[in-house]
Amino acid sequence: MRLLMCSPEYYGIEYEINPWMSRSRQADARLAREQWNRLHRLLREELAAEVETIAPVQRLPDMVFTANAGLAWNGKFVASNFRHEVRRREAAHYESWFSQQGFDVLRLPEEYYFEGEGDLLKCGDSWFAGYHIRTDILSHQKVAEIIEQEILSLELTNDWFYHLDTCFCPLSFGQAMFYPPAFDSYALKVLENHIPELIPVSAQEAARFACNAVVLDNKIAISDGCPELRQRLESAGFTLFETPLGEFVKAGGSAKCLVLKIG
Ligand code: ARG
Repeated sequence: MRLLMCSPEYYGIEYEINPWMSRSRQADARLAREQWNRLHRLLREELAAEVETIAPVQRLPDMVFTANAGLAWNGKFVASNFRHEVRRREAAHYESWFSQQGFDVLRLPEEYYFEGEGDLLKCGDSWFAGYHIRTDILSHQKVAEIIEQEILSLELTNDWFYHLDTCFCPLSFGQAMFYPPAFDSYALKVLENHIPELIPVSAQEAARFACNAVVLDNKIAISDGCPELRQRLESAGFTLFETPLGEFVKAGGSAKCLVLKIG
C-alpha cells in the first residue's frame, strides 16, 4: 500500500472553514510536527505502508490534509475542486506532483466541487461518496465515469462531520464503522443495504475522530481516546495503534485526513 503525506511545516489555523477551526485556538507547531512524525512512523513501521511525501507550501496550511488532494485510482488522478477559495491553490501543487509520478491527471469542470478521498471511499467493491457540505453530488457522476465504477451518493447533514471520512470508515469487505447522526435517513438506508456489518461509533468517540482511521488489512491507525471502539474492533480481530493527533483536530482532521492512498 502506497500513501501520500505532506509534512506540517506551514500548518496552522489561518482561516475558519469548518466548525472545528477557530483562529483563537492555534495549533502548537512543535507538537503538530511531533504528532505528524509519529503517525508517519507508525504507518511505515507498524502498518508496513510505503509513504511518499509532497513538499509543503508556504501559506497553504491545510495542505497537510492530503486526503483532499483528489482521488488516485488505477494510474489516474482525479484532481479536487475545492469548495473554499483558501484551499484552491493546493490543487496545482498536487496536480504537478501526480503528473511527475506518471499519473494521468484529470480535472472536473470547475463548477463541480469535489474534495477527493475525503469524500470518496471504497468499501469492498462499492464506492461511497459524501455530498452537500463540501463535495457536490453532480461531481459523483463525473468521477464515476472517469473511474468506470458505480458510486453511491450519501448526503451528509452535520457540519461537524463535513467530509465522508470523518463519519464513515471501511474496515473490510462488507464491514465499516460509521457515525449515524452525520447522515440523512436515505443515506443510512443506502449504507444498510450495501454493507452487511455496520459498526456504529458513539457521539463522544466520533467527536474524537474515531471514524477518521487509516486501515491496512487488519491494522488500524487511529486517534487516541477511543476505548469503546478499540474493544469492539479488537474483538473483531483488528490490531489498533492509537496515536495522539489533537493538533490536527483543531483544523477538523485526524489520521485519515493526513493520508491519501495512491496505490
Ligand atoms: N481544515 C481542513 C478543511 O476544512 C481539514 C480537512 C480534513 N480532511 C478530511 N479529509 N476530512 O478543509
